Amino acid sequence: METKTDLKIITLGNSLLNEESQAVNDIDKELNEFIKQMFHKMYEGKGIGLAAVQVGRLVRVFITHLPKDKPRVFINPEIVSTSIEENKFEEGCLSLPNLYSEIKRPEFVKIQAMNEKARHFVFEADDLLARVIQHEYDHLNGVLFIDKVTKNKKKQLLKVYQRKNKN
Ligand code: CO
Repeated sequence: METKTDLKIITLGNSLLNEESQAVNDIDKELNEFIKQMFHKMYEGKGIGLAAVQVGRLVRVFITHLPKDKPRVFINPEIVSTSIEENKFEEGCLSLPNLYSEIKRPEFVKIQAMNEKARHFVFEADDLLARVIQHEYDHLNGVLFIDKVTKNKKKQLLKVYQRKNKN
């Protein structure tokens, strides 16, 4: 298995992060290799989720791998429904190094997508996995977790970000 990867995680300031990703047409060998490399990159950064745009490719693909869960691939995902009940939890993002903030999100999500074998599936998740799925799904629409808070809170978070990523 290929272990090295040329992919680079892009961070805040790169305008690709604000763009909408495009649907995937062909789930081919090349895309599968790309997804494999995304996993390497995510593990390298000790992340539990990663969207393709975060390595600079604007396609509607994201992956997750939570402790005690298996690796999951979501291609052309659509959120079918979310719960009215919300909870708050501290989020981070490989594209926003050293920044964490409590973010409110629905507790439960139902999502449909295709996997790397082009098999269509419907999946339901709650708690942390539901959160990660929604966080990654947001990336496909150019939305970051700092866009989920009030204007003032976002300003404050951006200051913290600058301070913590000076070098
Ligand atoms: Co993120």
